[in-house]
Amino acid sequence: MEELVALCKSRGFIFQSNEIYGGLQGLYDYGPLGVELKNNIKQAWWRSMVYERDDIEGLDASILTNPKVLKYSGHEETFSDPLIDCRSCKSRWRADHLDSQKCPSCGSEDLTEPRPFNLMFKTNVGPIDDGSSFAYLRPETAQQIFINFKNVLDSTSRKLPFGIAQIGKAFRNEITPRNFIFRVREFEQMELEFFVKQGEDEAWHKEWLDRRLEWWYAQGVSKENLEIYTVPKEELSHYSKSTLDIMYKFPHGLEELEGIANRTDFDLGSHSKNQNELNITSKVDENTDSNAKLAVQNLENNKWEVPYVIEPSAGVERGFLAILNEAYNKETLAGGKERVVLSFKPHLAPIKAAVIPLKRNNDELVKKSQKVKNSLQSLQLGRVLIENSGNIGKSYRRHDEIGTPLCVTVDFQTLEDNTVTVRDRDTMEQTRIDTKDLVSYYQNYLLT
Ligand code: GAP
Repeated sequence: MEELVALCKSRGFIFQSNEIYGGLQGLYDYGPLGVELKNNIKQAWWRSMVYERDDIEGLDASILTNPKVLKYSGHEETFSDPLIDCRSCKSRWRADHLDSQKCPSCGSEDLTEPRPFNLMFKTNVGPIDDGSSFAYLRPETAQQIFINFKNVLDSTSRKLPFGIAQIGKAFRNEITPRNFIFRVREFEQMELEFFVKQGEDEAWHKEWLDRRLEWWYAQGVSKENLEIYTVPKEELSHYSKSTLDIMYKFPHGLEELEGIANRTDFDLGSHSKNQNELNITSKVDENTDSNAKLAVQNLENNKWEVPYVIEPSAGVERGFLAILNEAYNKETLAGGKERVVLSFKPHLAPIKAAVIPLKRNNDELVKKSQKVKNSLQSLQLGRVLIENSGNIGKSYRRHDEIGTPLCVTVDFQTLEDNTVTVRDRDTMEQTRIDTKDLVSYYQNYLLT
């Protein structure tokens, strides 16, 4: 983990947030390469959910959430972790993260009994800060999908089964944020709520587990580093009938990468009025203030039914960490030299190609390099940059270390015969290519 953290900082993937003022625990900022990798992960997820299927719509809803949403969803009452205080040094710990009855900070045994600590952040809304008008920062993106169910259904005329996908920020006041970006207080989720008929839920649950595993493999996450954990009944979230966690062997241990829950009709039922007419199977709060009917009409018997929900929910940061960990390789080359290389799948690489003029600040070479860069950039397959450092060996090393799949060198021969050298990150092989063939070479490389 230390090597990944150091690389992330030195190469501009991830920085400690608010660093110049001493930082703020559990928050990170994504630098020039980090933002590209993050965007590429999110785009890959969105493509596979919304563009490559015909049964899923997208949504981008607000972060600030009416407290009633999180009251009836059950989060106000149950979204908490057990907290223990050390009376000696005043530090706080998650009870389930303590290995012994001693404070990990000062070793004291003078600890309080565990008590529930709600993880939701609150903020004041409007100009008067007297506690009467507040909102929560959403602790999961899912609730905004549920409360928009009818809007999406009515505006798209969807029939079951269908899904709503959303990517966005979620906030949790974690008691002990830790393990770099694994457990943080501000993070992004990629969540799908897939609405199905009751009775078809278990088959869809299995189906979504398979689809999600395939997706992780396609991002370069190896089978041997993934495990499925069936969450035992006593550990299930309040809304779940069953949950399958996709666990990944992170550098700090085997932990949850993505959860796939069968949320039954709990959430749509909780946010619906006249619940007794809807045959809801889950135990929901009957006094909801909602004025919505989040249900569909069964055309065979005209009865209203609340769909069941299968929810694959993945964290962008945990995906980032897993993908980075998979891509990180240290190789010993002939002659004993070591190279660090990030072998990202090309679609995830933060920089797709670097164009390198052989001689720094040589007008003709730089001008030609700019032309080559523009021709590759115009394909809109991701960021292409000019590396005007003048040191070809250093440029290759730097681009191996940040995972750039192709380096294109423009030299004096280019000015005579319009050919360039293309170096492949993984094989380190160099090929001389005519610039008129470069665009299709690049396109084939990235798209196949
Ligand atoms: N809507 C369901 C839900 O939020 P969850 O298991 O609490 O379920 C889903 O969270 C995913 O969000 C997790 O699998 C993880 O990838 C990510 N996640 C949750 N808490 C996180 C945190 N504090 N820091 C980073 N990622 C987190």
